[in-house]
Amino acid sequence: MSSDYSTSPQFDPMAPAAKLSQAVFVKVCDLLYKLSGIVLKEGKEELVQSRLSKRLKACGLGSFEAYMDLVSSNKVELAQMVDVLTTNKTNFFREPAHFDLMRETLIPQWLSQNTEVRIWSAACSSGEEPYTIAMTLLETAPALARKTKILATDLSAVVLEKARKATYTNEIVADVPASIRSRYFEPVSAREQRVTAKARDLVSFARLNLLDPFPMRGRFNLIFCRNVMIYFDKPTQLGLARRFREMLEPGGFLFIGHSESLGQIDNGLQYERPAVYTRC
Ligand SMILES: C[S@@+](CC[C@H](N)C(=O)[O-])C[C@H]1O[C@@H](n2cnc3c(N)ncnc32)[C@H](O)[C@@H]1O
Repeated sequence: MSSDYSTSPQFDPMAPAAKLSQAVFVKVCDLLYKLSGIVLKEGKEELVQSRLSKRLKACGLGSFEAYMDLVSSNKVELAQMVDVLTTNKTNFFREPAHFDLMRETLIPQWLSQNTEVRIWSAACSSGEEPYTIAMTLLETAPALARKTKILATDLSAVVLEKARKATYTNEIVADVPASIRSRYFEPVSAREQRVTAKARDLVSFARLNLLDPFPMRGRFNLIFCRNVMIYFDKPTQLGLARRFREMLEPGGFLFIGHSESLGQIDNGLQYERPAVYTRC
């Protein structure tokens, strides 16, 4: 089904810009919370108005009320709505302290245990995070990398499609340290480069809403869940932290974003250092 309705008879390009009422804003916030756990607070009206205006235009609709009617009966558009309201910002080697810890401590530990390694990048956005994990493993311990499985999941089908394509602009790839860039990217055009098969093959992608039960069998040695819990409220964070604990091997690690904190909540995880927890 096409999501571009701009030829719809309801669409009038000369009409004044639609205005988001408080009632519709509250409805959008409730829906987003129910579907993704993301909390949008008062003060975000302008952001919602500007992001949803793009969908109104794409759907050829003249009011937010009409858009909400469409969303209530059209699951494809509902997913699009959640998509435009979520923040997908990410980059290669973001928050490098986590990759330093992998290289200096975790990988040597896994090597000495001679174990197969399972890593989960939960909320992986467009793939920069799991590919950084793959590159770190390949650079540090290629033999271990070949035995490692990296699962990368996200709520958004749009970002997952980009992640699977593994093709990024030169500006995005510039975040990768020059010393390793040439080994993990190949040019696809003057503007874009693709992650090489060597790194791509370590990662598998799947759509997963973190609010839903986790369908994976087997535990992980390391879970990355960075820069998403910051959008959730405390009860959602606590529930998720407890469920992550259950998905970790004893002694396994959870990495969260450096601007996030699981605070003092009783979740069965032990604080190790900023943005790093272990299963105790
Ligand atoms: C800011 S990005 C973080 C990407 C990466 N982890 C990083 O730190 O660079 C947040 C991601 O969380 C995803 N997300 C939001 N709510 C989610 C949910 N309930 N389940 C799974 N993913 C979710 C969004 O689609 C987005 O791609």
